Amino acid sequence: MPTGELKQRIKDLKRKKNAILLVHNYQRPEIQEIADFIGDSLDLSRKAKETEADIIVFAGVTFMAETAKILSPLKKVLMPEPAARCPMAEMAKPDKLKKFAEQYPDAEIVAYVNTTAEIKAMADVCVTSSNAVKVVDNLDGRRIIFIPDKNLATYVSIYVKDKEIIPWDGYCYVHNAFTEDDLYEIKDEHPQAVIISHPECREEVIMNSQYVESTQGMMRLAKELSASEFVFFTEEGLTKRARREIPDKKFYSTSKLAVCEEMKKITLEKIYESLLYERYEVVLEQDIIERASRALNRMLELS
Ligand code: 13P
Ligand code: SF4
Repeated sequence: MPTGELKQRIKDLKRKKNAILLVHNYQRPEIQEIADFIGDSLDLSRKAKETEADIIVFAGVTFMAETAKILSPLKKVLMPEPAARCPMAEMAKPDKLKKFAEQYPDAEIVAYVNTTAEIKAMADVCVTSSNAVKVVDNLDGRRIIFIPDKNLATYVSIYVKDKEIIPWDGYCYVHNAFTEDDLYEIKDEHPQAVIISHPECREEVIMNSQYVESTQGMMRLAKELSASEFVFFTEEGLTKRARREIPDKKFYSTSKLAVCEEMKKITLEKIYESLLYERYEVVLEQDIIERASRALNRMLELS
C-alpha cells in the first residue's frame, strides 16, 4: 500500500477507535509524522498516564509499552512489534538482581525505565534519562543499586556526591559505541557545533560534551540556544527529527552510524495492522502492575 494511503488509514482507525499513537524520538520519520505525541521516555510515560483515549498504540520498544500499561492499567495498550526489545533492558534479570541486592541489604534499588516490568516491580523507584539525577538526589538512602545502565550510573554519581552508587554492568550498544575519538573527530570537522550527548554515553564522551540531555532535552536545547550548528551523540532518529523540525539550523551526523535496530523494527504497516486487529496487547500480571506502578509513580512524584 502506498505510504500516503497507509498513513490515512491509520489516522482514520485512530479516530474510529479513540486511539492515540505515542512515538519515541528514535522511530522512523514516516511514523513520527503521524504521531499524536513524540517524546522521550519521561514525556511518553506522562502522556500514557494522562490520556483519555481507549487504546494506546506504542511505537517504541517493549519496555516503553509496558510502562504505558503499568501507568494506565485500564487502557488497551498495543505494541505493533513485540520483538522490538531494548537489549539493555534484557541485561537485567530478576533472579540476578535478587542475588545482587542480597549483598547490599541497606541499598535502595533504582531502576532505569529501560528495564522489564518484573525489574521495575523489584525497584524502590524508577528514573529516566531526564530525571535520574534529580530523583536519586531526592532519595533519603545513602546507598543505591543502579540498574541496568553503568554509564547512566556514572553520570548520576558525577552530580550526586553524597550517595554511593553501585552500578549494574549493563549498557546500550548504540550509545556505548561512541568514543572520545569520535567526539574529537567531529569537533575538528565542525568546531562551531554544540555537542550534546545522551547520558547513556561513556564518561569520556559525557565529560567532553557541552551538554548532556535526554532525547527530548536535546530537541529543547537545539530550539532554545542561539547556536546554529549541533551534533547529537545519540541515535540517528533524533538528528533526523531535528533537521525536519528546525530547518534553519544544521545537525551533523557522527561518523559512527548510530542506529537502534530494535526501534526500527516498527513500521507503518505494523502500526496499521496493530490498530486494525488490535494486536499485540500488552498483558502483565496484576501483582507486577501494582508493584511496578509504585516505583514509576514515585518517580513521577520526585521529578
Ligand atoms: P530517552 O528517554 O532520552 O528518550 O532515552 C530512551 C532510550 O532508550 C535512549 O537510548
Ligand atoms: Fe535500548 Fe539503546 Fe535502543 Fe535505547 S537506543 S532502546 S537504550 S538499545
